Amino acid sequence: RSTVTVLPATLAFTAVAKNLNDVVTVPSDYQVTVLYRLGDPIAASVAAYANDGSDTNFAQRAGDHHDGMSFFGLAASGSAPDTTNNTRGVLVLNHENITQAYLHANGPSPSPRPEAEAIKEIEAHGVSVIEVTRASNTGAWSYVQGSALNRRITPNTPVQFNGPVRGNAALRTLYAADGTTGRGTINNCANGYMPWGTYLTNEENWAGYFRRTAGDAAVRTATGNAKQNVSLTRYGISEGRAGNYGWTTVTPSDATSTVFARWNATAGASAAADGTADFRNEPFQFGWVVEIDPYTQTSTPRKRTALGRMNHEGCMAGRVVAGVRPAFYMGDDAQNEYIYKFVSATPWVAADATPSDRLATGDKYLDTGTLYVARFEADGSGTWLPLTFGQNGLTAANASYAFADQADVLINARLAADVLGATRMDRPEWTAVNPVNGEMYCTLTNNSSRTPATTDAANPRAYTDPKLPQGDVVNADPPTSAQATRGNANGHVIRLRETGDTTEATGFTWDIYAFGSGADLDPTNINLSGLDASNDFSSPDGLWFGLPSNASGQVAPVLWIETDDGAYTDVTNCMLLAAMPGSVGDGGTRVVNNTLTTAANSTTTSTATTRIGAAPGSKLKRFLVGPKECEITGITSTPDGRSLFVNIQHPGENGGPANITSSWPANQAGAVTSPTRPRSATIVITKTDGGVVGL
Ligand code: FEO
Ligand code: CA
Ligand code: CA
Ligand code: CA
Repeated sequence: RSTVTVLPATLAFTAVAKNLNDVVTVPSDYQVTVLYRLGDPIAASVAAYANDGSDTNFAQRAGDHHDGMSFFGLAASGSAPDTTNNTRGVLVLNHENITQAYLHANGPSPSPRPEAEAIKEIEAHGVSVIEVTRASNTGAWSYVQGSALNRRITPNTPVQFNGPVRGNAALRTLYAADGTTGRGTINNCANGYMPWGTYLTNEENWAGYFRRTAGDAAVRTATGNAKQNVSLTRYGISEGRAGNYGWTTVTPSDATSTVFARWNATAGASAAADGTADFRNEPFQFGWVVEIDPYTQTSTPRKRTALGRMNHEGCMAGRVVAGVRPAFYMGDDAQNEYIYKFVSATPWVAADATPSDRLATGDKYLDTGTLYVARFEADGSGTWLPLTFGQNGLTAANASYAFADQADVLINARLAADVLGATRMDRPEWTAVNPVNGEMYCTLTNNSSRTPATTDAANPRAYTDPKLPQGDVVNADPPTSAQATRGNANGHVIRLRETGDTTEATGFTWDIYAFGSGADLDPTNINLSGLDASNDFSSPDGLWFGLPSNASGQVAPVLWIETDDGAYTDVTNCMLLAAMPGSVGDGGTRVVNNTLTTAANSTTTSTATTRIGAAPGSKLKRFLVGPKECEITGITSTPDGRSLFVNIQHPGENGGPANITSSWPANQAGAVTSPTRPRSATIVITKTDGGVVGL
C-alpha cells in the first residue's frame, strides 16, 4: 500500500464539550485567530467593512458563507508556487451562499428587487483567492489586503467550458452563442486540491437560483426539446419556481445588461428555438466542477464537463501513482442521489506535480476519461458503473431517456445513473482520501426521506418510530409527527477501498466508518458506533484528511469531520472532530432494526444488515464547537500541519438586523457591548507550543 512511515500517534488534545456558546471553542492549549471575514477588503483602495448594510463592491471584498478551502504554498516572494512553505500562501475559498438579511441596512427589499441590492447579493457569491502570511516575529497570520495575488471570482466572471460538453447545443445562450463560454459560478460548496497545483470549486445548489414560469415546458416540447423538461425537473427546476432572491425582477439601469435576466430559464415562445436569444439553456451552464489556477490571477476558470453535471458537493483526488490513471471522487448532494468517481484517461506523470501551465495540465487529466457511479452490495463489495454512452442502456434506444451522445449522458448524469441502477444514498456530501492507504471516505449527512422500506446495507438507518428512545435527536419530546418521519436523522460516514488499491479499479469493498448519533441513543439500532460524550455528533458534512509530519518526516493521517446539523442543535452548536481511523473491514456486520409507526398507529418494521467499522473510541474526538447557528465548512492546513484553517459559515443565520442572534466573530476575543452583525469567516487554529494541530 504505502511506504511512508506512519506514526503510532494518538489524538493528544482533551475533547471539547458540546456547547451552545456564541464563540469558537477549542482545547485550552490552542488559540484561534480570525483571519478573513465577510466584507473584508481585498484591494488597497477598498474601505474597511462597516458591517451595517451600507457596504458595496463585494467583487473586491470577501464574499459570504465561506465554504470549501485549500492552501497553496508560495515562494518567499512573488507568485511562484512552493508547496513546502508553511508561512506564505494563497488561500482559496468558496462563498456558497448569503445570509441576505445582514447584507442590507434593514434586510432585503421586496420584489421588484432594487438593482443595488441584487448586485451585492450576486457578488457576495463565488470564490476568494487571497494571499496569507505568517509573521516571522509574532507567528500571527493575516491576509494581505493589497496583494496582487488577490482575486474574486463571482457569478459574473467569464469562464470557459472544456470536455465533451464544450460547444454543445445545450450550452448556447444569448451570452454564449457557441456554447464554449459562460459567466461565473454559483453555490460553490466543497473543493478539490489537484496534484498539479490547482483548485476545484463545485457548483451545488445552483438550481435554486433559476426562475421558470408556466408555459416553459410547452415551448420546449414544441421546439423538439421535451427531454429538457424531464431533466430540469430531475435537477430541481420545475415550472413555477421564482428563483432565489428574486434577481430576475430587477430592472437594470443599463438596459443591455443580462446579469439579472440570465437567471430566468423560461423559454420565450417567440425567441430563437436554439436558445441563443434568451437564457432557457442557462441551467445547463451550471452543475459542473470548475478548475481555477490560484497562482495566475488573470486565468479563466474552466468548467470540466467530463466530470458530469449534478449538485456537486466536492471533488477530491485519489492518490497519484506514476503510470496509473488518477481518480477523482465526488458526491451529488441531494436526497437519494449518488457517489461518483472520474478516472482520467491519462496515466499520471510525476513531473506534472510542478507543471509550467497548470490549467493545461488540468486539460490533460480532467477532460478525457470515464465517469463512474457507485453501487454498494449487501455483501460489502461494490461496483463502479461507467456512465459511457452506448453501454448498459445509455443509448439512443433507451425507452426512458434516449441518450444522444456522451455529452447528453454527462449533462444528465443523474438520469444515466438511474438507468445503471446505482445506489441511492443518504445525501453524499464531501469526499476525502486517506493519503496513506488510499481509502475514500464520503459523508452521508442525513436523509429525512429514508424509510424502513428503502433502507439498504449502505444506508441502513431510518429510525422513524416516535416511540423509540430518540433523546436529543429531535427538538421536541415527545417528537412531533413531522419529526417522527425524519429517516436517517444523524447521518453516517461511508468508506471504500478500491480493488487492488488502484484508482483505476472498477470494484471495491466498503464499510461504514461511523454513524452519527447522540451518545444517549439506542445502542442497538441508532448509536451503532458507540459514540460517547467526547465524540458524539450529528450530520457529518465537511471531511478532509491532513497528513501532518513530525521533524523526522513521520506522518500521521488525521481525518477531520465537520457537521452541518439541525437534529442535535438543541444540545450543541455544529462542530469539528478529529479522527485516526482504521481501515475498511476492521469491524464486522450489524443488523439494524427500523420501525415505522404511522399517525394511525400501525407499525411496520424492517431490518438491514450493514458493514460497520471498528468502534472509533478515543481515536475520534471533538476538537472544536462553533458559534450559534453556524455550520463548520472548509478546512485546510499548512504542509506541516501546524496552522489549521477552518471556515465558520453563516453564524446567526436565523436572525436579522432587528434581531441579531449571534455576534460572532466580533465577540471571539471577548464579549461585545451591543449585538454586532455576525459574519462568516475563516479562522486559523494554532497550538500554543507551536506543535502539530491535533497531535
Ligand atoms: Fe453545500 Fe451539501 O452542502
Ligand atoms: Ca456541505
Ligand atoms: Ca450540509
Ligand atoms: Ca450551509
